[in-house]
Amino acid sequence: MADQADLIAPPPANVYVARVAEVKHYTDALFAFSCERPAGLRFRSGEFVMIGLMNGPKPLLRAYSIASPAWDEQLSFYSIKVPNGPLTSRLQHIQPGDEILVGKKPTGTLVLDALTPGKRLFLISTGTGIAPFASLIRDPDTYERYDEIILTHTCRTAPELVYGEEVVAAAKADPLVGEAAAQKLRHVTSLTRDAHRLEGRITNLIENGALFAHLGAPAFDPAQDRIMICGSSAVLHDIKAIAEERGFVEGANSEPASFVIERAFAG
Ligand code: A2P
Repeated sequence: MADQADLIAPPPANVYVARVAEVKHYTDALFAFSCERPAGLRFRSGEFVMIGLMNGPKPLLRAYSIASPAWDEQLSFYSIKVPNGPLTSRLQHIQPGDEILVGKKPTGTLVLDALTPGKRLFLISTGTGIAPFASLIRDPDTYERYDEIILTHTCRTAPELVYGEEVVAAAKADPLVGEAAAQKLRHVTSLTRDAHRLEGRITNLIENGALFAHLGAPAFDPAQDRIMICGSSAVLHDIKAIAEERGFVEGANSEPASFVIERAFAG
């Protein structure tokens, strides 16, 4: 059993302690929160970091994509509430002013530097997988490097699209990137279990051409398109296969290429 000293154990040296600024609940299973950005924390837009809470004497940490851009004063996150999840069952109750732990070493492959230059950038997300793209669509580099940015977000039901609608609206209203976002950013949503303008899994919409018909734009072309993918492991697996079939090559920080993937972490 933890004694009193354990309960007030100091956080370990590999994490910062940051104060929660805002918390917003979207559905019974989805919420977003932000905290002050620890002074020493550096990251590239699209990366993830360990986030958590003290659990008695030990930190309980999970990887979370940072949903705010590299230049922002605040760090934002978007999370599912995992039923009986050790971290999210507590994290979902945080309030402004509470303290959370933030790892000191953000990392990840959903970064612009892991892709070779191209014309169109497809950001393909399902569920909370939109989080790293919320960061990238507010980064001026994204608009400097690409002529067109197409963010797709597929969820089961309509309320799950609200966070994405808000982050896209925020990008278009952003003093730094708003003008570029208004010109270059397109947001395409599809639902799999509710009626919607575009219905079906993104894999099907790519394969049957409905995504491109909806955009009024040509299908994937590895010569000019770059793709980032973020969702569950099944989604990553299936879209990776589609991308590779069409001649795209997976990139990494050390070897940029034409597509990159990252799982949507939560726990
Ligand atoms: P579906 O409703 O057909 O399962 P989840 O909420 O489970 O993370 O799913 C988010 C979205 O991803 C849902 O719309 C879901 O569709 C879709 N999805 C789940 N598995 C796959 C897959 N293998 N390929 C493409 N989309 C998927």
